[in-house]
Amino acid sequence: MRVLVIGSGGREHALCWKIAQSPLVDEVFCAPGNAGIAEDAVCVDIGSDDTAGLLRFAKDNAFDLTVVGPEAPLVGGIADAFLAEGLPVFGPGATGAMLEGSKAFAKDLMSRCGIPTAAYRTFSDASKAREYVEKEARGNVVVKADGLAAGKGVVVARTREEALQAIEEIMARRAFGAAGDRVVVEEMLEGEEASFIAVCDGENVLSFASSQDHKRLLDNDEGPNTGGMGAYSPAPVVDVRMEGLVMDRVIEPLVWGLKKAGITYRGVLYAGLMITDEGPFVLEFNVRMGDPETQPLLVRCASDIVPVMLEVARGGSVKSLRIDSSAGPAVCVVAASEGYPGPVVKGRVIEGIEEAAKIEGVKVFHAGTTLRDKRFVTNGGRVLGVTATGDTLTGAIAKAYSAVSKISFEGMHYRRDIGKKAIGRMP
Ligand code: AMP
Ligand code: GLY
Repeated sequence: MRVLVIGSGGREHALCWKIAQSPLVDEVFCAPGNAGIAEDAVCVDIGSDDTAGLLRFAKDNAFDLTVVGPEAPLVGGIADAFLAEGLPVFGPGATGAMLEGSKAFAKDLMSRCGIPTAAYRTFSDASKAREYVEKEARGNVVVKADGLAAGKGVVVARTREEALQAIEEIMARRAFGAAGDRVVVEEMLEGEEASFIAVCDGENVLSFASSQDHKRLLDNDEGPNTGGMGAYSPAPVVDVRMEGLVMDRVIEPLVWGLKKAGITYRGVLYAGLMITDEGPFVLEFNVRMGDPETQPLLVRCASDIVPVMLEVARGGSVKSLRIDSSAGPAVCVVAASEGYPGPVVKGRVIEGIEEAAKIEGVKVFHAGTTLRDKRFVTNGGRVLGVTATGDTLTGAIAKAYSAVSKISFEGMHYRRDIGKKAIGRMP
């Protein structure tokens, strides 16, 4: 069979790499892909936001399965467009994708289903939001733009002034465009974050292993939020008991709530969690795999992922299928460009990828890369996701950093503490 993957990041590289290993698959295409993806799939120059172009390409090539990597096309309704043409697509329709596309929608659904989440209020009027922060809110608050903002529309305010400033930035100065029509102001939760990623066929859920992202730019979780500077799996903060709580309190009520709202949700359900003393609380839902969590999850994934995606895309059931993970942990360290998470410098020559990839158990996933004169050059904010497996977490971390040390490009920066939090809690 032939599979099309939509997207161009490290997550999509990991997806293409994994899908290409399936004995069911003859050919993998990726639109638009990147220089590293081109080694595992045929890249075609169609942007992930060009629904009409993608649809035409998929129809012409009669793909058996299309896997949508990023959220924006899902929120824009690409899955509905493919389904209307009878093309099997892995990813929810636009209504389901509102779970990620609108914080207010997600919060309302959570409160209707009794899913634990921070207490919140939604405002479409900046002066009402300000008044709430000044007079009513207790303790520290988090201010969130209501629409998609590439992981950057959230301000965890340490002071009342910071919260007011965030409202000003988002609603008055429109720092995130139309996402600033509304804000969600919510209570700040204390705990440790984890990602819980699962596949849903509308009824049944299969979960991947737990994982943890590192959202802040700098070591010790300092600096601004980014798309994610590294990840590891499993996350020991999600032990067997906690996993049970996540299924009982979050995932099952969510699947029920979506059904009750008349939404047949087929695709990835990703719960961004805060693990607190009182159990899991949901910070956000996403409707696609995490980036960079996908990289360690898929190198650990011992099952063929294609039958699962295909069943979901065809409207079937995953009840008899499984997603198994190997016992050894995996770690992904993101190497980013000068300027990231702000505007970045592109076109810098990358050295050492081949040497890094020679290390046993290391896979270098590409994100913002392209080819110039047959050499890899930087082409985005997050450039590479250097991923390693090991028998122990410490071993996987050491291997990932030893691979990173072989790679260089001008302005390259990365966190030195990926996975550190979990050491001591893991063998
Ligand atoms: P979100 O996009 O909603 O997941 O928010 C981005 C990041 O902001 C999260 O990964 C957390 O680090 C932080 N955050 C969001 N909501 C809260 C909250 N209620 N309490 C503490 N931190 C939060
Ligand atoms: N790594 C966080 C995300 O994909 O949203």
